Amino acid sequence: MSWFPEEERRTTNWFTKFCSNVLKCGPVPKHVAFIMDGNRRFARKSHIQRHEGHVKGFDKLADTLEWCLDLGITEVSVYAFSIENFKRSKDEVDGLMELARQKFARLMEEKDSIQKYGVCVRVLGDISMLPKDVQELISEAVEFSKNNDRAILNVCFAYTSRHEMTTAVKELATGVEEGLLRPSDVSEHLLEKCLYTSHSADPDLLVRTSGEVRLSDFLLWQSSYSVLSFVKVLWPEFSIWHLFAAVLHYQRNYQAIQKGKEANLKDREAAVHQSDHQCVLEEIEKEQVGSKDCKNTDIQSRIRKYRLEREERERRFLDRVYERRRKSLESMLPVKISISY
Ligand code: FPP
Ligand code: MG
Repeated sequence: MSWFPEEERRTTNWFTKFCSNVLKCGPVPKHVAFIMDGNRRFARKSHIQRHEGHVKGFDKLADTLEWCLDLGITEVSVYAFSIENFKRSKDEVDGLMELARQKFARLMEEKDSIQKYGVCVRVLGDISMLPKDVQELISEAVEFSKNNDRAILNVCFAYTSRHEMTTAVKELATGVEEGLLRPSDVSEHLLEKCLYTSHSADPDLLVRTSGEVRLSDFLLWQSSYSVLSFVKVLWPEFSIWHLFAAVLHYQRNYQAIQKGKEANLKDREAAVHQSDHQCVLEEIEKEQVGSKDCKNTDIQSRIRKYRLEREERERRFLDRVYERRRKSLESMLPVKISISY
């Protein structure tokens, strides 16, 4: 099955379109994350092979992307394979890798649709843990679609939040070690910029199917202000009505969440300002001028100068981090051997 909407399997009709338009009168989440849980239970319940359950799971993902697009949800993140999933039986892990192989190969056959829908596909996770040929297919898809910006699909593969955060902390530690950063430059903002999701806004809504009410190490940092929706059905049973219900749940909680988000942004800004202030005071103390002798106006202009310098350090550090990531992805691209006689 294709990643993109196909006429012969259209799951929407005039009534779903009508309901979708009603929902669009309220705030629609821009970014929705899904924990697609319950494929194996679905397989057991339907007396089909476990792998078939995962295949049905992918088909449901394709339908869900179509519904999201119709609703005006421009970014979707899905938990497709967690690092924990490597602990499952070899048979199941191999099956999931084969599914990924087939689906990313199919995606590369659908380059026209990628461009038509303007989708940017990102794969978030430690791709180096995956088989070489899957790495190649993934890097091709990411590279091919990287400049698209009408819709974003983040496929979290070989991903866990704790691994992502640990990787980010290591990047910061390296930055300090290499002298690009000062320890005091480390902030929530900078750590966030080292996460795999550095180029995305946080999810507004996070949906988990199968009745489990936990986050299982998925987007823990990013979902601090997301509305959570736990749905009882198994992922392959998820329908457009469950999506509508989740969006309605988001709309009911919208005001409270917005307030929390705004307050957090202010707190963050204040914490950074406080840190800059403290660093300037320490500098002045070192210069043995004594903070009392330094006029308040001098301190303010030094803080402004310090802020500009810190922002410049952060820019250089992040350029380095992103360059390293770009090169790592590039190194996974298949080598196109051309033999000339
Ligand atoms: C969780 O159900 C689902 C997974 C671990 C795999 C999800 C993968 C897909 C839906 C296919 C996506 C593929 C691509 C290429 C994007 P489970 O196995 O935990 O089922 P259970 O909770 O019933 O045991
Ligand atoms: Mg599960």
